[in-house]
Amino acid sequence: MHQEGDIEWARGLDEAGILGTISGVARISPEEIMQASQATLLYQLYVYGDDTWVRDKVQMAESCGYKAIVVTVDSPYYGQRERDVLAGYDPRNVGWRTAVNPPDRRCIQRLDWDWIQRIQSHTSLPVVLKGLVHPEDAKTASKLSIAAIWISNHGGRQLDHSLPTLEVLERIAPTCRKFSMPIVFDGGIRRGADVLLALLLGADVVAVGRLPIFGLAVDGASGIKTVFDNLENELRTAMGMVGLTSLSFKYNDFQDRLVRRDDPSLSTRWDKIEK
Ligand SMILES: Cc1cc2nc3c(=O)[nH]c(=O)nc-3n(C[C@H](O)[C@H](O)[C@H](O)COP(=O)(O)O)c2cc1C
Repeated sequence: MHQEGDIEWARGLDEAGILGTISGVARISPEEIMQASQATLLYQLYVYGDDTWVRDKVQMAESCGYKAIVVTVDSPYYGQRERDVLAGYDPRNVGWRTAVNPPDRRCIQRLDWDWIQRIQSHTSLPVVLKGLVHPEDAKTASKLSIAAIWISNHGGRQLDHSLPTLEVLERIAPTCRKFSMPIVFDGGIRRGADVLLALLLGADVVAVGRLPIFGLAVDGASGIKTVFDNLENELRTAMGMVGLTSLSFKYNDFQDRLVRRDDPSLSTRWDKIEK
């Protein structure tokens, strides 16, 4: 997407004043990325090695200033990405590379709650789990003092027919509220109104993947800033449209101000209005 890859990504987050996550399979080493910007960054981890490998990764992240470890739990296998195959795209052959990440997928396929606890034992940083979709998992996570769950289906890139994340959010939010478990949410956020909908449905943090990547591809760090400026403007407009002057509303207060087209209660609501 950009010659300077994740370094430009971190610069863009810094310019935009946005909290960001650096991929554990970034082409450039996490230390170099951290040095390149003042952005507040989290370190995303794929469990691609044994316990010692994991310990070294999380301790490296902690010592160079990452603020949390985000363990991605939705990718025991690499999704079949036909477009990449057809285009002959192999990220290992592209661009500047200073990070070496030979993945051992057998480890990530054995990931379980014991593993998660071992990861926690290696760091004093908060641990976030990315890719949870079931309320029971949210409950277990809260018992293990996980800092937040990140509802995600990997942008739909891993598994056809994976659950749409907005539906997961609706299903999981009540459990998370009950156990005071913060929710990060992503998947298909393209507009400010999408951000507002996710917040109204219970997300505490809304994350974007492809949107800033498009900005990065078009105009590097400035492109990322433009994307977030646009998103913020759209969010303010959407809030104004539904009569919200601040984001400090209570979960459940305003859910009926925005509806999705497939919302079964929509027709009932229109019926009431028409009467
Ligand atoms: C090019 C690309 C690379 C990604 N790499 C990772 C990754 O290394 N680790 C990870 O947990 N998620 C990764 N994701 C998934 C994103 O973190 C995020 O869950 C997803 O993009 C959100 O959906 P959205 O793109 O519709 O906003 C990647 C997504 C894209 C588009």
